[in-house]
Amino acid sequence: MGQQDLSKGGANHQKARGADDTMTSAQGAPVSDDQNWLKAGARGPSLLEDQIAREKIFHFDHERIPERVVHARGYGVHGHFELKEAIPELSRAKIFNQVGKKVPTFTRFSTVAGNKGSPDLARDVRGFATKFYTEDGNWDLVGNNIPVFFIQDAIKFPDLIHAAKPAPDRGFPQAQTAHDNFWDFISLSPESMHMVMWIMSDRTIPRSFRFMEGFGVHSFRLVNAEGKSSYVKFHWKPKLGLQSVIWNEALKVNGMDPDFHRRDMWDAIDSGNFPQWDLGIQVFDDAFADRFPFDILDATKIIPEEDVPVRIIGTLTLDNNVDNFFAETEQVAFCTQNVVPGIDFTNDPLLQGRNFSYLDTQLKRLGGPNFTHIPINAPKCPVRHYQQDGHMAMTNPKGRVNYEPNSWDHGEGPRENPEAGFTSFPEPVEGAKLRERSETFADHYSQARQFFISQTPVEQTHLGAALTFELSKCDREDIRARMVGHLRNIDEGLAKTVADGLGMDELPAAAKAAREPVTDLKPSDALSILKN
Ligand code: HEM
Repeated sequence: MGQQDLSKGGANHQKARGADDTMTSAQGAPVSDDQNWLKAGARGPSLLEDQIAREKIFHFDHERIPERVVHARGYGVHGHFELKEAIPELSRAKIFNQVGKKVPTFTRFSTVAGNKGSPDLARDVRGFATKFYTEDGNWDLVGNNIPVFFIQDAIKFPDLIHAAKPAPDRGFPQAQTAHDNFWDFISLSPESMHMVMWIMSDRTIPRSFRFMEGFGVHSFRLVNAEGKSSYVKFHWKPKLGLQSVIWNEALKVNGMDPDFHRRDMWDAIDSGNFPQWDLGIQVFDDAFADRFPFDILDATKIIPEEDVPVRIIGTLTLDNNVDNFFAETEQVAFCTQNVVPGIDFTNDPLLQGRNFSYLDTQLKRLGGPNFTHIPINAPKCPVRHYQQDGHMAMTNPKGRVNYEPNSWDHGEGPRENPEAGFTSFPEPVEGAKLRERSETFADHYSQARQFFISQTPVEQTHLGAALTFELSKCDREDIRARMVGHLRNIDEGLAKTVADGLGMDELPAAAKAAREPVTDLKPSDALSILKN
């Protein structure tokens, strides 16, 4: 093709580039004019007939998909995981069986409560989700930067999130400062007190994603080739160490550059400063779980590192920015139920609900059941099954056979494989159907106190100031009083600081503890997790 003839469209044509890249419609038909809708005469009405214009506008009209119901604001990066210590005695997962093995990964960091356009440095939990594209399928470790969670049972999650997100009538606030609905819910949910200590501490607002830890939170299982199971908690330890900003700094950064965290990550990778995290595991058995003062299925409790040291087994390196934010960061679908043979679930009631929720929400968010066909979600190992059809099906069974068992192809189609396939750990389960949890779930204050007293005096001062500031944004005095009542069960000094800061004439009564806190926990039990 020769040079474009500028005279054709007169002044209404603006030539952007050479003639080699002929624009086409989505159907591939060459486009002659992308800037002027077909009209009846120069001053006449636009014609519906213009299929080029209609296709363009139609596609634009449908560009948006729902943002994630939580963790809407996030930033994704490619990388790889390299195994430094093989653990075949613990797990038959192939990702863990050979030192030096590298597995491609995709990691998405996020805030929880803010919408897609909210500022990066909110006082909020950070998501730290990693998809490992292993030879046995995708394993998703969908964690946060805090090792515990607000609630113990997934059935409460919609309430927690409703209370944290903008109120339904006024549509504010979001994620920047806490507010009445949030504190109302929290003060009525004492199980959240341990997490409240973390979220009000200096750890909460990371200097950047590169300086924060990650935790799988729940107890999972590792299962070896002999079928022996061990419990495991997963940890990410940043090689750059742990660094945060304080609220004052966060406000300025947010004002100056609400994209500060995503820009930091992009720039670091763009300039070859690849951030790294060590993957650590805390492994323990049934005997330890029985001895431990809390239920290891309770996601509001940590396992202190003094009791079970973290063993480093590999390193995650993030070394590649995305080509397209929407295609990769927005369309990636993490799910706790994505595990591989050798990794299994426990009965943690929060984890079990998550296993349902992610797949369910993604069905809607990504428009149907075939989102595993989207390249960022597609496994990088062979995928063979008889699932078919549905919206946007990119791969379907080949040939005649789409069921099993079948006797076609002399067994050449996909078949179950009892040896190589995923098998659930055969944990014996029996019991009455109840809506109850074991008794130690009701100890809401022991580890909250342990966390608080493990903080340095400066950190404790900051924590008290953060609580005072956030509660001062809560207009209802009864809610403030309820919160201080909980704080009295954590630390009297902290409760008094906050009560004074809020101008209370007298200390409200301590909240009635559903279960007496364990009193002999030492601050050092929680220290190592803070000082690494
Ligand atoms: C999204 C972590 C509890 C439902 C996420 C994401 C992370 C995360 C990191 C963002 C994933 C991404 O970047 O795309 C956690 C952790 C939890 C927790 C660590 C507790 C230990 C829950 C619970 C539920 C839940 C209890 C529901 C019962 C969701 C949903 C999404 C989400 C629906 C959006 C997923 C999507 O649209 O792709 N969570 N979460 N989460 N989480 Fe959780």
